[in-house]
Amino acid sequence: MSVSTVAAPDPVQRHDTSERVPTRRHYVMCPPEYFAVEYSINPWMDPERPVDTELAMEQWRELAEIYRRLGHTVETVPAQPGLPDMVFSANSGTVIGGRVLGARFRSSERAPEAEHFRRWFATSGYREIVMPSRINEAEGDFAWTGQLLLAGSGFRTDPQAHAEAQEVLGVPVVSLRLTDPRYYHLDTALFVLRKGERPQVAYYPEAFSEGSQRVLRRLFPDAVIADAADAECLGLNGVSDGKHVVLPSEATGLAERLRSQGYEPLLTDISELRKSGGGPKCCTMELHE
Ligand code: ARG
Repeated sequence: MSVSTVAAPDPVQRHDTSERVPTRRHYVMCPPEYFAVEYSINPWMDPERPVDTELAMEQWRELAEIYRRLGHTVETVPAQPGLPDMVFSANSGTVIGGRVLGARFRSSERAPEAEHFRRWFATSGYREIVMPSRINEAEGDFAWTGQLLLAGSGFRTDPQAHAEAQEVLGVPVVSLRLTDPRYYHLDTALFVLRKGERPQVAYYPEAFSEGSQRVLRRLFPDAVIADAADAECLGLNGVSDGKHVVLPSEATGLAERLRSQGYEPLLTDISELRKSGGGPKCCTMELHE
């Protein structure tokens, strides 16, 4: 029998679903027990608009439940009265290979959160904990691809914190500049779908400077490109385990595109947390191996 056709892979094969292998994750979350919008440090936050803390709690519990159902580990840091944004645990530490780089918040309102998380790391057995000297909002502005640490600046994290992260964590850092105040943290404009040797990301190009868009195109030619509708519901604040992708329930367009690439989107309601400018990823700090 002759096998003469070496056909170019069709689009379905190129996005072979068997490639989508979930890996077990270790997450740290903080319940929104004292969640409120009492000040405004990003365009999403309107202190005049009522917030339902109980509903935020329900949405947060459901998010944690999704992770547990997927087999991931979820640890929690106790909430503190007077720190309504502490639910956004992703902002309080960048952890890669057992090294912890803590946070230093830009706003005075959030500044005390960093110390609560530092203590949690210290009592959870972490030996190498460095508190940054520069403004550093942790995974809000840092995304680990398994190869590179993508680092955002423009609104929160100081560009000099990028160099500090490289030095402390010992990983190569690529700086990206954010330009739209609605997408004030890197994790509101980009997330990692698959980490490892051939990482894949999803991002909203318009949230980045021209030069940073070119960098992203060069690094990630196979990225999933998001549109304005995906971004406006904070759809880029997704959490992926390499197969399952947790997204805000409104991010249906992005969900469809991910599904066509073999991912399995899981939509969840985070409407209360979005009133503070947060979504699934903001509530989820990942402890990367
Ligand atoms: N209200 C919070 C702030 O402005 C929201 C933080 C959201 N977290 C995130 N990782 N994007 O700081």
